[in-house]
Amino acid sequence: MKGIILAGGSGTRLYPSTIALSKQMIPVYDKPMIYYPMSTLMQAGINEVLIISTPQDLPLFERLFEDGGRIGMKISYAVQKIPNGLAQAFVIGADFIGSSGAALVLGDNLFHGYCLSEHLEKANKVKKGATIFACKVHDPERYGVVEFDESGIALSIEEKPKNPKSTYAVPGLYFYDNNVVEIAKSLKPSARGEYEITDLNNVYLEKGLLNVEVLNRDVDWFDTGTSESLLRASSYIEAIEKRKGTKIACLEAIAYEKGFIDKTSLQRAANLMGNTSYGDYLKKILDSKV
Ligand code: DAU
Repeated sequence: MKGIILAGGSGTRLYPSTIALSKQMIPVYDKPMIYYPMSTLMQAGINEVLIISTPQDLPLFERLFEDGGRIGMKISYAVQKIPNGLAQAFVIGADFIGSSGAALVLGDNLFHGYCLSEHLEKANKVKKGATIFACKVHDPERYGVVEFDESGIALSIEEKPKNPKSTYAVPGLYFYDNNVVEIAKSLKPSARGEYEITDLNNVYLEKGLLNVEVLNRDVDWFDTGTSESLLRASSYIEAIEKRKGTKIACLEAIAYEKGFIDKTSLQRAANLMGNTSYGDYLKKILDSKV
């Protein structure tokens, strides 16, 4: 399976778009936001990723990750000129996806939890259909909302409904088989003029090919699309990192753990980071102290 990070539509709700600052480059505590969705794909075992962003922001990501070789990844880049919908990721990424399946993660979504890797690896292994997730929230009207029957079977998904049928939101992380490209191409824009990921998911649902996994309390999810949630996410990462003495979304550490890079590459990365807390952490991993 290949991975896509959709990291465009600069900061529409965080600050005025006239401020030329990529939302996904803002630090969440001690590293840029985009590290978190990248780490999610890596934890799923994915090492080929396409980053899609605006013509203005894309060069920043290219400078940050280059070809991905430093972290044992193959990273490529594509422009989305107009932010006209999440489902467009699969049309823009059609050549990149080729004959493979595709996972999409939104550039402003952050996931963390002890069972997360298990959920991700499982979703990555599914060959037919789609896997999406559901998380209980207090403000479902902000999200795609999934309704379940008594036995836990998904009945419907609605995008930002005024009267949500449940409190289960669909987070910005989706796994699809190769049919996603053709389905995405066949979608029509919604009433708000966007190619909706929810419409794409509903096609899989109608075919009986949509698996909705409820993420329980062991997994935390943040959509950092507002100033409040961005601050909450930063405080959360700080609290866990300080308590556990480990770093969340440390890409070099995940790459090493997943076998994407060897000890020599980890050593090189640690040297590159110099005397920063990030560099010190990589050195501790080399010395097997975390
Ligand atoms: O966060 C989960 C939610 O994400 C889901 O529950 C919703 O079903 C889904 O539609 C989406 O809702 P949002 O309101 O959060 O989407 P937003 O328009 O804020 O876009 C999410 C990110 O994707 C944001 O960082 C900007 C980027 N984006 C968005 C669009 C529409 C793009 O790069 N290109 C786009 O065309």
